[in-house]
Amino acid sequence: MSTEVDEIKKRIDIVELIGQYLKLQKAGRNYKALCPFHSEKTPSFNVSPELQIFKCFGCQKGGDVFSFYQEIEGVDFPQAVKDLAQRAGVELKSSGFDARRNQQHQILLQINEASLKFFVYLLEKHPIGEQARQYLNQRQLKPETIKLFELGYAPNSWNSLGNYLLKKSFNLPEIISAGLVSPGKVKPGWYDRFRGRLIFPLRDQQGKLIGFAGRILKKDSQEAKYVNTPETPLFSKSHFLYGLHLSKVAIKTARQAVVVEGQFDLITPFQAGTTNIVASGGTAFTSQQLIMLKRYADEILIAFDADAAGNQASWRGIQLAKEQGLEVKVVSIGQGKDPDDFARSDPSGWKQAVTQAEPVYDFYFRSVTKNLDLNKAADKRQTGQKLLPIIANIPDHIEQDHYLKKLAQILNITDEVARQSLIQTKNKGAARATQNLIPDREQNTKHAKQEYLLSLLLLLPWEITKEGIKELEEADFSKEEAKTILTQLKQLEQENRSSLDLADLRAKLGERELSYFEKLALNPLPIEELEINKQRIELRKALGLVKRDYLQQQLHQISQNILQAERNLNSEQAEQERERAKSIKAKIVKYAKNQ
Ligand code: CTP
Ligand code: MN
Repeated sequence: MSTEVDEIKKRIDIVELIGQYLKLQKAGRNYKALCPFHSEKTPSFNVSPELQIFKCFGCQKGGDVFSFYQEIEGVDFPQAVKDLAQRAGVELKSSGFDARRNQQHQILLQINEASLKFFVYLLEKHPIGEQARQYLNQRQLKPETIKLFELGYAPNSWNSLGNYLLKKSFNLPEIISAGLVSPGKVKPGWYDRFRGRLIFPLRDQQGKLIGFAGRILKKDSQEAKYVNTPETPLFSKSHFLYGLHLSKVAIKTARQAVVVEGQFDLITPFQAGTTNIVASGGTAFTSQQLIMLKRYADEILIAFDADAAGNQASWRGIQLAKEQGLEVKVVSIGQGKDPDDFARSDPSGWKQAVTQAEPVYDFYFRSVTKNLDLNKAADKRQTGQKLLPIIANIPDHIEQDHYLKKLAQILNITDEVARQSLIQTKNKGAARATQNLIPDREQNTKHAKQEYLLSLLLLLPWEITKEGIKELEEADFSKEEAKTILTQLKQLEQENRSSLDLADLRAKLGERELSYFEKLALNPLPIEELEINKQRIELRKALGLVKRDYLQQQLHQISQNILQAERNLNSEQAEQERERAKSIKAKIVKYAKNQ
């Protein structure tokens, strides 16, 4: 396996692979992008072509081609090896692992199917399902809809499903691993995860039953309204879209998907005839969900409840969708409603709202200016403040220009003023991003300053780095890893290298320094784009900070020595120490001048 893994790594370029999922921007030696694994506004996701690794400084995820593929596609390592081998044209010898995993998946699927039978039986036939039947009736679900979505009922009991499954001769560890029962927290034993809940089976796009969601039926319950299957070998929430197996054909035909949040927000509109619809499961979109949707649709119509469409989390999902090249529109639903309420109370109004969905940026324009008077200077300024950051983030330049002109028009300002304001907004954004990355001078910890300096040494042009390392010594750094990296850099300098090859340097490091080194080498440094003199100045500043820390430390030691010498009435030694202190103070002053 391991030679095959190495062969795949050789053949697949990480920049190319990640570039198929994200929009990568060159930044100095590395590439950066908005991280697909957590929500952020400024890119902290970095890819190193030299080291063939990635790292996000926001959520700390990182690794090689395999880790990226696993995370973005939601597959395990063996599956990633299989898929990437195929891409790379590497033939794999079959492994016993594959067979074992398939077997485990089969068992979990059987447990899920058996459970679904149990839940559906209770809802359809058993007296215990009466409350759930009434509930669905009240939410106006038709019998054929209930059948199509295979809804069920989990009784309000601690062990009934578990016992049923045990009787079917599944064993407890398997049932736990399917997420249907949990091991007891307080006393030994186990209990059913879903109790007293309406059950929605969760099927993936191929129709495989990978998990369940359950809605509480009791009113005013202290428990969570919805409970889902936890992460299992079959189910991963961030990679799942509810309803896709029933809607994918309609989505593919229309190349358009209506996207809602919850299960009922999907089912009621579906019943009303909107069959090209999926539900995100309540969270903001994840990149993985969008990548999945992109296989079927070019356009998504977001139908979140009225407040949610404009909030931060949705904005991030929308941003992600635009970056994936999807067209995004917003369906207007009345205040305080969700698609379920809307499609139930007014099915034809709902359908009309879907056809009248408006492009997302027009939606922002409308909601920002809703209660403002654009003849007033203050209202104009406020509009600019809210819309310019949105316009600045439009990935497509032609579309960006369109909305910039639209802004100029509604504010009654010239295109030139609008353009200038946009540049200002972009600079502010960049400055904010930079602020987070460059250690705040004196404020930062010793380690942060040293790490920043080392990152500069690794990432700036070699001629600047060489000037820096000449002035540094191992003692300037506190961590062993940092000292070793400096030693190796000095050695490369001795060898008269014409440039610094990070992969070469990595090969010289031991296990111990590796992760420290990789973190430094992927540090997103905005100054990499600066011209060479500014880079040189930045290195001088960073070097000065680190040098001063070490000198201060020495100075502190010397003052202790002086005290000791005076106590011992050794005036000669005290005088010597004072001379040393003087020269160190002079050095501190020299380095302080660089700031
Ligand atoms: N959700 C969840 N876990 C929770 C709450 C919500 O997974 N504790 C998901 C569910 O998929 C839910 C969606 O987020 O459908 C939206 O939540 P919310 O708006 O609170 O519920 P509704 O969909 O309106 O639920 P209902 O109509 O059944 O009251
Ligand atoms: Mn609802």
